[in-house]
Amino acid sequence: MSNLEQTLSIIKPDAVERNLVEEIKDEFKNNNFIIKKEKKIKLEKSDAEQFYKVHETKPFYNDLCNYLSSGPIVVMILEKENGVTANRELMGATDPKNAEEGTLRKKYGISIDKNSVHGSDSLENAQKEISFFFKD
Ligand code: CMP
Repeated sequence: MSNLEQTLSIIKPDAVERNLVEEIKDEFKNNNFIIKKEKKIKLEKSDAEQFYKVHETKPFYNDLCNYLSSGPIVVMILEKENGVTANRELMGATDPKNAEEGTLRKKYGISIDKNSVHGSDSLENAQKEISFFFKD
């Protein structure tokens, strides 16, 4: 049975700054994701705080929000069969040094903070994150 899911992906400031946007978008397309919507934006720190609210109590929260709002990002709605899990598999582990060969974070990530891409971690969060960035 088909289980088409949409998930939210962010190309983070470190990857935008290194002109990796087209290369990373090609990775998604080559892995049979459809990019349903995309936009390049720059967040205010308050937007990043709201987006990452689930991490509010973590020691890295403030740095994380400063970082996500430090430069332009590209946000995308991706669609694929079991898209949430498929995107997490393609991204690899949060910390690039633990990420498997061939994953986006292994290929492009610099550090646990500058890990190049974000992806929703569950279908429920995917729906929340999509409506955070794409209101209509
Ligand atoms: P992301 O998938 O965007 O979700 C939260 C981000 O916090 C994560 O990627 C990392 O870039 C960042 N982060 C920084 N420090 C940590 C940590 N110790 N554990 C998990 N995530 C961290």
